[in-house]
Amino acid sequence: MSELKKPVFKPNREFAAQARIKNMCEYNALMDWAKEDYEGFWDHFAKEKITWMQPYHTVLDESNAPFVKWFEGGKLNVSVQCIDRHLDTRKNKAAIIFEGDRGDNQVITYRELYYNVNRFANMLKNNFGVQKGDRVVIYMPMIPEAAYAMLACARIGAIHSIVFGGFSAEALRDRIEDAQAKVVITADGAFRKDKPYMLKPVVDEALKGTSVVEKVCVVERNGEDVTWVAGRDYSYNELIKNQSVTCSPEPMESEEPLFLLYTSGSTGKPKGVQHNQAGYILWAQMTMEWVFDVKENDTYWCTADVGWITGHTYIVYGPLAMGATTVMFEGVPTYPDAGRPWKMVEEYKINQFYTAPTAIRVLHKSGEHEPAKYDLSSLKVLGTVGEPIDPPAWKWYYEAIGGGKCAIVDTYWQTETGGHIVSPLPGATPIKPACATLPLPGIMGEILDPQSGEKVGVGESGYMCVVRPWPSQIRGIWGDPERFVKSYYGDVKKDGKPVYFTGDGALYDEDGYITITGRTDDVINVSGHRMGTAEVEAAIKKHPNVAEVAVVGKPHEIKGEGIFAYVVLKGEDTVSEEMEMVKEINNVIKKEIGNIALCDDVIFVPGLPKTRSGKIMRRILRAIAKGEAITQDTSTLEDPSVVQAIESAVNSCKM
Ligand code: WTA
Repeated sequence: MSELKKPVFKPNREFAAQARIKNMCEYNALMDWAKEDYEGFWDHFAKEKITWMQPYHTVLDESNAPFVKWFEGGKLNVSVQCIDRHLDTRKNKAAIIFEGDRGDNQVITYRELYYNVNRFANMLKNNFGVQKGDRVVIYMPMIPEAAYAMLACARIGAIHSIVFGGFSAEALRDRIEDAQAKVVITADGAFRKDKPYMLKPVVDEALKGTSVVEKVCVVERNGEDVTWVAGRDYSYNELIKNQSVTCSPEPMESEEPLFLLYTSGSTGKPKGVQHNQAGYILWAQMTMEWVFDVKENDTYWCTADVGWITGHTYIVYGPLAMGATTVMFEGVPTYPDAGRPWKMVEEYKINQFYTAPTAIRVLHKSGEHEPAKYDLSSLKVLGTVGEPIDPPAWKWYYEAIGGGKCAIVDTYWQTETGGHIVSPLPGATPIKPACATLPLPGIMGEILDPQSGEKVGVGESGYMCVVRPWPSQIRGIWGDPERFVKSYYGDVKKDGKPVYFTGDGALYDEDGYITITGRTDDVINVSGHRMGTAEVEAAIKKHPNVAEVAVVGKPHEIKGEGIFAYVVLKGEDTVSEEMEMVKEINNVIKKEIGNIALCDDVIFVPGLPKTRSGKIMRRILRAIAKGEAITQDTSTLEDPSVVQAIESAVNSCKM
């Protein structure tokens, strides 16, 4: 076993001495406290961290589990937590540093953020008729107005639902309709690689098929021409000028919804993951403090997009709740060259840098020697998120970027968990490459055997679960409570009680460290973007010539996973135009979901491997896509010969 052991890197001594959690004794003490007095632990931090408008009377109510309530009776406003309460001590501190694609920049102080958010909130109320509880869809580029929009919704008690700018009009429409949003906030577009790109036309297209949206707010960012629909579309840049800079924050109950964020599951329809007020913001702030250990004068940069959960928790809510300076970047990391992020690290003296393994692989591959050109000595903590990081990428990150002195926090979490759940603490946890290490204090994360519900032994695969509710966990799936219970509390029981199952497989090593091995369901992770195979299949099936389709993930050098589609066509002669069909299939995906879900491989096969009851045996398809031998018994298939036919179709494509 010893040669399989991963090397261990101890925390930097100097860093540890000044960290919030300084060593494993402190980590263990916190964890023991949570284990012995779970409610007392959370009560302590909720009182210490949150500026309450009204105190809560109950820490945790599990009587209707898995529908739990945290901090009941309490009232707060998340925008106050993120802005107002800092004004006494941080009025002139940079809250957001924005760098545009073209190198333009803006520094927004907490004072300015307060004014901008209040104006935005007043505009939503006065000009768009937004009220507490209304859903507002935000379809925006990475510009400060996206953060203002989120915080403005929070201020007036509206529920925002951000749709990532890479989603198509159809995908946007589905999410608008599911949430029944009455207002959409968007931009004309933004800049990417020195060129304007457009978002407003996508909104126009999405709204053609639905009548739920009454008004659209358009931020003018790139100044390109857009169509204005009279009585529906209004310019933010015009309306904002006349708004008052004060807007009294709505007192929100702890368990009223803060936002929805649609994510992929194992069926075709994306789920509207609901997060509520107090528990979410508490853990966003606590994990910022513990995992990134951001100090008062630090500058922190997370490269995610606000369209994903990482952008919500670790660009906007977490950093602002703790009063940090957060960097927002509009561009792409490889433009004008793969030194861009390192140039920005030098320029802004970034102290914590947080990105996805895909980005690290791209930056490594296309700019191995770029980091050496810049002064990266300000860096203290490096983070990764979204997918397992492979050891070579980890090594480069650790050495070339971190200079061997920065901890890498491999943060494991999900849209549903609201914040990190398994991660190293940079001043305490000895780290191992490509290992998320230990559950954070307060999170009762365990790897369980799905059959017995017992903790698995060293090296045995099991399911990554959380066995107690925690404050920032998903509260529900919008409009579908049954699906919530079924999706997360259906697979694993511990001591006879259903526990939260993440959907990921994991392993313990001999030190009790957790390595996440990947999804156990039909969700794939393409460039850190979470994608449901069923969603992609549903899109492909819309092509009139497609009879059947099965989509699986295939390891990809840069993206982590790529999308591999097995397609059965209607009618035999259509196969002659294969190249054309591949293009058409990708066009359908582009229309239904967006460019982020395009297939890397499309293989035309005569049939799919199905059991006699009609279930597609995806494991066989995954093995074929990876070029692995099929170890599974194929005799139970309805037509075992189809496997060989699929293999030869795949092989002939490779030639
Ligand atoms: C995967 C992103 C390994 C995992 C925050 C999870 C990871 C899914 C890690 C959630 C990590 C996230 N190591 N895998 N450090 N972090 N994942 O909802 O499969 O977009 O279930 O949230 O990403 O993706 P989501």
